[in-house]
Amino acid sequence: MTRKKRTAILISGRGSNMRSLVEAARAPDYPAEIALVASNRPDAEGVAWAIDQGVPTVIIDHKAYPSRADFERALQSALDTNGIELVALAGFMRLMTPDFVEYWRDRMLNIHPSLLPSFKGLNTHERAIAAGVRIAGCTVHFVRAEMDEGPIIAQAAVPVLSGDTAETLAARILKVEHRVYPAALRLVAAGEARLDGEKVLISSDVSEPDTLFAPTI
Ligand code: GAR
Repeated sequence: MTRKKRTAILISGRGSNMRSLVEAARAPDYPAEIALVASNRPDAEGVAWAIDQGVPTVIIDHKAYPSRADFERALQSALDTNGIELVALAGFMRLMTPDFVEYWRDRMLNIHPSLLPSFKGLNTHERAIAAGVRIAGCTVHFVRAEMDEGPIIAQAAVPVLSGDTAETLAARILKVEHRVYPAALRLVAAGEARLDGEKVLISSDVSEPDTLFAPTI
């Protein structure tokens, strides 16, 4: 295997997706290493877990900076100091400036709990239920300047059941998020996910198809 890609995970809260990435990256053959966790919220639940696990962790409180660009300068400096090559947004709830997004073009991933391009933004699960869709899911994609937009790397689908609430649907989707995000980061870090225009081509066949399309979980 070639050298592991130094990856930063950006969080704002609970950090359960961060946790799944950190745990996956412990496998000797995983092509990314989690070299940094950065949180824009000092009180994010995930921060304590990351520190406890011995993962280098920084808090860059966006409220301490006069502008979005100033915040991003501090973030970029932490990424540079730690030699970061890939960035994984995991419940990171700050919009990035186009300059920052452009700098990290095709090297920054995000996970969103819907089958994009449907249901971007907040209250995703409520809106999916209100729309009456039968299938929901999650998407890992390369980040572009528009929120929850960009070339799709991996998706997983789950059923929407009658009687679902936003909470029950979110919990069902979160389970597959925890499998899809490590699978998607693996593809990118291994150089197996390549851009063809704004579409992602996977150079090897996906080795775990049930991970990416898991209708019954
Ligand atoms: C996850 O469900 C993630 O998909 C979502 O926030 C949650 C974070 O949970 N992200 C977005 O909605 C991005 N638009 P976590 O902190 O436990 O990973």
